[in-house]
Amino acid sequence: MKGIILAGGTGSRLYPLTLAVNKQLLPVYDKPLIYYPLSLLIECGLTEILLISSPPALPAFYKLLGDGLHVGINLSYAPQESPGGIAQALLIAEDFLAGDSCCLVLGDNIFIAPSIVPAVRKAAVDLKGALIFACQVQFPARYGVLAWDECGQVQAIVEKPSVPPSSWAVTGLYCFDGSAPKRAAKLKPSARGELEITDVNVNYLQDNALQVDRLPRSSAWFDAGTPGSLLDAANYVQVLQTRQGRLIGSPEICAYRRHLIVADELRALGHAQQASPYGQQLLSFAMEDRIHAGT
Ligand code: TTP
Repeated sequence: MKGIILAGGTGSRLYPLTLAVNKQLLPVYDKPLIYYPLSLLIECGLTEILLISSPPALPAFYKLLGDGLHVGINLSYAPQESPGGIAQALLIAEDFLAGDSCCLVLGDNIFIAPSIVPAVRKAAVDLKGALIFACQVQFPARYGVLAWDECGQVQAIVEKPSVPPSSWAVTGLYCFDGSAPKRAAKLKPSARGELEITDVNVNYLQDNALQVDRLPRSSAWFDAGTPGSLLDAANYVQVLQTRQGRLIGSPEICAYRRHLIVADELRALGHAQQASPYGQQLLSFAMEDRIHAGT
């Protein structure tokens, strides 16, 4: 299974913040937004990752993340010429995927949901069809919303309904088998002129090949697409990090935990940024782990 991060878009709900800066490069407390979905993919064990964004933003992403070798992954880049919809990512990624399954995550989605990692790791081994993740939210009308039948099976997915059939929203994390690019290629643009990811999911549903993983209530999911949700996410991260004394959404730490880099490499990455609390946290993580390991 390969990873895809879709990090383009217009970001119009964040104007003027996003007039000159890509949304996914904005800060969420102490690190850029893109770190969170990237960390999630690394934590899920994916090491071949494609980052898709608008052509003007790609150089900044490359400056930030390079080829990914510093965190033990192979990161490549592809342009999305204009925001033609989330499902377009599957067409752009077709050559990169070369028939493989994928885990697609939206660049502005932040998950603090430990149950995702084993689910994606299992999907990487035996996924047939699609696996999507649903979360209960207060205002489902902003999202793709799931309708359930009386047995608790998915009946339909309705995009931004005026009367939501449930409070379960489809989150921006999707695992697809190798047929996804072909399914996306058959889509017609929606009324808003986009290739809709909901249509891909519905296509799998019609083939009886859509699994839905309901995130437990203890999970937190943010799409940091408005000033309020960006601030909520930052506050949440700050509170958790301060209480727990550990970084959330750090690609370096996830890479270290997955044994993609060793303690000396983590320490070197921390040293390079030691003027910041983030760099100091990397250093102390490498040090603490050394103590636990008795070295
Ligand atoms: P949205 O939040 O739906 O769109 P946006 O980022 O353009 O923001 P706004 O609605 O405020 O104008 O996008 C969700 C995520 O998907 C976000 O990370 C951007 C990404 N995206 C793309 O990269 N390309 C696209 O064509 C679309 C539609 C979204």
